[in-house]
Amino acid sequence: MQQQIDGQRVREFAGQLMGLYTGGMLSFMVDLGYKTGLFDAAAKGPGTSQEIAQRAGLTERYVREWLGALTTGGVFDYDPASRAYSLPPEHAFCLTGDHGLNLASMSQMVAHLGKHVHKVADAFKNGGGVPYSEFRPEFTDVMDASGRRRYDALLISGYLPAANGLQERLREGIRVADIGCGTGHCVNLMAREYPDSTFVGYDIAEDAIAKGSAEAKEMGLSNARFEVLDVTKIPSEPKFDLITAFDAIHDQVDPAAVLRRVSEALAPDGTFLMIDIKASSNVEENVGNPVAPFLYGISVMHCMTVSLAHDGAGLGTVWGEQVARRMLSEASFGDVEMGDAPDPLNSIYVCRK
Ligand SMILES: C[S@@+](CC[C@H](N)C(=O)[O-])C[C@H]1O[C@@H](n2cnc3c(N)ncnc32)[C@H](O)[C@@H]1O
Repeated sequence: MQQQIDGQRVREFAGQLMGLYTGGMLSFMVDLGYKTGLFDAAAKGPGTSQEIAQRAGLTERYVREWLGALTTGGVFDYDPASRAYSLPPEHAFCLTGDHGLNLASMSQMVAHLGKHVHKVADAFKNGGGVPYSEFRPEFTDVMDASGRRRYDALLISGYLPAANGLQERLREGIRVADIGCGTGHCVNLMAREYPDSTFVGYDIAEDAIAKGSAEAKEMGLSNARFEVLDVTKIPSEPKFDLITAFDAIHDQVDPAAVLRRVSEALAPDGTFLMIDIKASSNVEENVGNPVAPFLYGISVMHCMTVSLAHDGAGLGTVWGEQVARRMLSEASFGDVEMGDAPDPLNSIYVCRK
């Protein structure tokens, strides 16, 4: 029997789909604005397409079309009488400046992951996944750019204070490892803030580790070092007093082994500080979370597939609180406190044995 189709719902859903595709296109426009310096140029004040192009040193015709997309997309205002485009100060705040709420760089993730759609589609058909190596070297910089300002703003004043007494211990001098450190910015920020502690950043990516070492050198840090290492093999002696993981557990090939190893490598009174995505493990509890589709999407396009590429657990970005708590308990963390991070996307797990 043929199912009745409600024409009104068809029209509504078709409109919703077109809205999704429009959002995708606008992400590319934001990425272009970020890469070309157009947002900084536009933030200086209202201007015609010619004036804004001149300020940024770019070709007017491209800039005018870009402004058309972002004006009709609600990012710019336009005054037809003067032909001036203006970026409202609140929008300029979210798209420019050296602070944690400049979200412009996150647009790069959409364009970067989009390049891999056909490979991920193959994995849907054939199993397996797309390994980290296929995303690099571009992923290294995209990840760095999307986290760097947030860490500058929140690492020392927002994330670390979540663990009672930790900052005092860092000031006194302890041994710290950051696992899955990427380009190591967190390691270097902590090493600068706590000169009496020693820090090591571990990652499997050689290019990321090289960038971490170069930044440590630039910052003149003698208490930070970096090592290419699979973190299922963190040295278990001498023990660490603090191990941190920033967004670095859910994409592991063998996250259970990593968590066990973290527990073994920690001193008895040590702390594991895990910053990871704020979500439920149950899809029904994520319905209504406006960023949940973005998170599941990142998972399909990156975090889950890099793990499945090596026959891994494929936990995915949205592994969520319930699974995280179970896995931490299975890794012998008897005391786990979880709270909201000072940014809207993450939770902080303070784990002790
Ligand atoms: C999502 S990125 C996070 C990077 C960094 N912590 C940040 O917040 O910008 C995850 C990182 O974990 C690293 N990684 C994944 N599996 C690993 C493993 N088994 N050993 C070491 N590093 C690993 C990846 O290379 C990547 O740099």
